[in-house]
Amino acid sequence: MKRMKREGHVCIIGTGYVGVATAIGLAELGWDVVGHDVIVERVRALALGEPPYRERGLASMLRRHLASGRVRFTEQLSEAVTGARMVILAVGTPGNDDGSADLSALRRAVDDLDDFGIDDAVIVLRSTVPPGTTERIAKRLQYRVPVIYSPEFLREGTAVHDVLYPSRVVIGGNDDEAIQAYADLFEHVAAPIVRTSSIEAELIKGYSNAFLAARISLANEVASLCDALGADSTAVLAGIGADPRIGSSFLQPGIGFGGPCFDKDTRSLIYVARRAGAESAMLSAVLAVNDAQPGRVLKILEDELGTLSGTTIGVWGLTFKAGTDDVRHSLAISIVQILVSKGARVRAYDPAIRTNPMLTKCEIVTEPLAAANADALMVLTEWPEFRTIPSTEIAGALRRPIVIDGRNILDAKALAAAGIRYRGVGRQELPRTKAPHRVAGEAVS
Ligand code: UDX
Repeated sequence: MKRMKREGHVCIIGTGYVGVATAIGLAELGWDVVGHDVIVERVRALALGEPPYRERGLASMLRRHLASGRVRFTEQLSEAVTGARMVILAVGTPGNDDGSADLSALRRAVDDLDDFGIDDAVIVLRSTVPPGTTERIAKRLQYRVPVIYSPEFLREGTAVHDVLYPSRVVIGGNDDEAIQAYADLFEHVAAPIVRTSSIEAELIKGYSNAFLAARISLANEVASLCDALGADSTAVLAGIGADPRIGSSFLQPGIGFGGPCFDKDTRSLIYVARRAGAESAMLSAVLAVNDAQPGRVLKILEDELGTLSGTTIGVWGLTFKAGTDDVRHSLAISIVQILVSKGARVRAYDPAIRTNPMLTKCEIVTEPLAAANADALMVLTEWPEFRTIPSTEIAGALRRPIVIDGRNILDAKALAAAGIRYRGVGRQELPRTKAPHRVAGEAVS
């Protein structure tokens, strides 16, 4: 194995949210970066300063680094790789139906690199991969170059921030020089470096996401019991989270976790455990609770309205979480689809979504109160702006005064004071202090 270069730019292959956030984060840290993707339109848009996803401040940072020449994007692999000190692979690794990870894009990228010939760069896998993948990629390249694994823990909406201020930089592999070369990229970042074998780093990534997913499922189960016993889960979870050993993050009950990572990564671990003959009972339970959660929130709505057929339901929020325009594995979208299948008309508002091919039978409106012109309002994404809409205006827009807060973000007291029947997830109903307005001919519960 030849020794690696310690000069030249950093090449990033794959310009999804991980690749772009890593590229811009490294540019912010002072490194020259060249990005490449096989999706030509994406490369062209990036070269014009248009990022492939929404994140506050991202477009301006991208344009600044394009203008200074610190970041470039190219359709040519040869241009991206030639002279690079390091090649970071951030291509997508989606889940297959059986839970296994689809590594075809990763294999193709590695084979393209091999065909092109890379003999003096470090290869860093940054995509989420099942344990053992880094070692298999090194073998595929006949151990001619060092291959290490450094997982990302980036949250959509704050991904560049998370590159610059990570909780830790995990680097897995057995080539000390390669690990040091990668660690040097983060020398000005105040975070501990966690050095492990590549398989351990792969497990750290998978179980970090599974652990967070498990906290959310536990919080949803707490909310379920609180509903059954007449307790308030907000108070219960705040009391649990006050223990510093537990902490309060990722304990917010709701419609369940969505997005491209938690479900996929947990399923992937279950698949790997099954193949390895190991236990994964907890992971299966985490997914079972999550799969049932949209149904639990819909049941609250059905309890309030009786049949959904012929009703109009207002929806606030379609993305899988606030701060992004991503609807991958969004349980808000799943809930809208179930509402439509049950004969409801859906009128939805989301600050980041104007159209969506998955929602042909749902009217997407551009004002939150236009969506509230409905028989009930469901809050399905935790956009902070929803909190700022006065309860009296919500009450004025609704045909029947019912709000199902699937994210527990609204002010329950203020809504009750405005005459609205407020139902959260594991939250107790409050007596309404004002008579709700009535629309002629409609019953008010
Ligand atoms: C996650 C991980 O946080 C990140 O480290 C990893 O690299 C990628 O996956 P992300 O998918 O962007 O990031 O979203 P995150 O903020 O973690 O939320 C995931 C889902 O859980 C969202 O649907 C969110 O609404 C939901 N959630 C989160 C809850 O329902 N309750 C909570 O308490 C926290």
